[in-house]
Amino acid sequence: MNVRRWLAIGAVAVATVATLGTLPATADRPDLNPAEQSLGALGLRHNLYLGTAVDMAALNDAADPHYREIVGSEFTSVTAENVMKWESLEPTRGTYNWAPADELVAFAKRNNQRVRGHVLVWQNQLPAWLTEGVADGSIDREELRTILRNHITTVVRHFKGRIWQWDVVNEAVSDPWDDPPTLHYKGFWAQHLGPGYIADAFRWARAADPHALLFYNDYNIEAFGSGDAANDKTQFVYNMAKELLRAGVPIDGVGSQGHLGTQYPNYDTLQVVDALRKFARLGLATAFTEVDVRSQLTDGVRAGDSAEVNPRLQASAANFHVLLQACLAERRCLSFTVWGFTDKHSWVPGWFDDPPEGLATIYDENYQPKRAYNVMRADLIYAGPPYVLPRLPQRPRR
Ligand code: XIL
Repeated sequence: MNVRRWLAIGAVAVATVATLGTLPATADRPDLNPAEQSLGALGLRHNLYLGTAVDMAALNDAADPHYREIVGSEFTSVTAENVMKWESLEPTRGTYNWAPADELVAFAKRNNQRVRGHVLVWQNQLPAWLTEGVADGSIDREELRTILRNHITTVVRHFKGRIWQWDVVNEAVSDPWDDPPTLHYKGFWAQHLGPGYIADAFRWARAADPHALLFYNDYNIEAFGSGDAANDKTQFVYNMAKELLRAGVPIDGVGSQGHLGTQYPNYDTLQVVDALRKFARLGLATAFTEVDVRSQLTDGVRAGDSAEVNPRLQASAANFHVLLQACLAERRCLSFTVWGFTDKHSWVPGWFDDPPEGLATIYDENYQPKRAYNVMRADLIYAGPPYVLPRLPQRPRR
């Protein structure tokens, strides 16, 4: 090997180490500074943002200080668990309640965190004035479309410049277990406006904030299945995204929620990487936006029987690991957000109660980090070139 080639390799190595910032300089100095060991700090080595959904009641509960402390210290991104949803922002027609959402955005700013905006268009948590008005015929199709445009425009303008990624449209596609089982556009908006509302929503959002990244967000799209869009939801969403891009719609990314359960077969890293990569090849960013991995709370689990608890904690950790490792492996996977970080404040027990489920997050009810948390930290620490490279910034599509 000639000298010039050695120099070139040296330059690449130096540049790579420089972009990774906090890599230990030598093998005999493997310990990281404790202040650099939060999930968020470790993620920044890869330019990956580690986020959590935030429950504003818990954030403001003076009797529960750990919650606020961990949101501020452990994460580099936040998502409003509920307070940016339509029923919360506009409970009465024409009267907006910005305070809780503004408070979260201000909290994020003080803590140097990026904000994922969640959510502009979704069939759930809509205000009664809207759903009832449509049901009783007092709001017709044309007015409904105007209401949606106004909502998107007002909300996106309000937060303009302060939102990194918006979930513009959420959960628009059915699941194979729905009726009919052939995948289709489901829910309130598709029923009343037809699927064209999706393209409209992205265009209206872009017009209101040219700099925010605009995402489609859904669950059950972690990996491809049969490849048949009639029953493979990931393929259906992929085809939808491709079609939106072809039509010039300003979509920048696809968010995979990542609500998993240990009772299911689950995916492995390479399957998830394959899905992220296919979206990346369309020119889209990706993100895991709502990760949690729940388990059934059997009598044994409730009684604290370790023979029942341990396998669940391990299986949960394994799933967090698979999604995070896949995200690290794909340079357009920009952020990894958990849907709540403690079992003390998780939507799972309240939502999945027959049979009861829980244990879905990375800290237990007493704010003790679980195996999943430590596995995630290890994933972030022991990752680097050539297979894990810093994220590629995504530019908003015009
Ligand atoms: C959930 C919240 O966590 C709950 O507090 C609320 O009662 C219902 O909604 N997919 C989404 C999220 O996109 O907005 C949902 O959040 C969880 C599923």
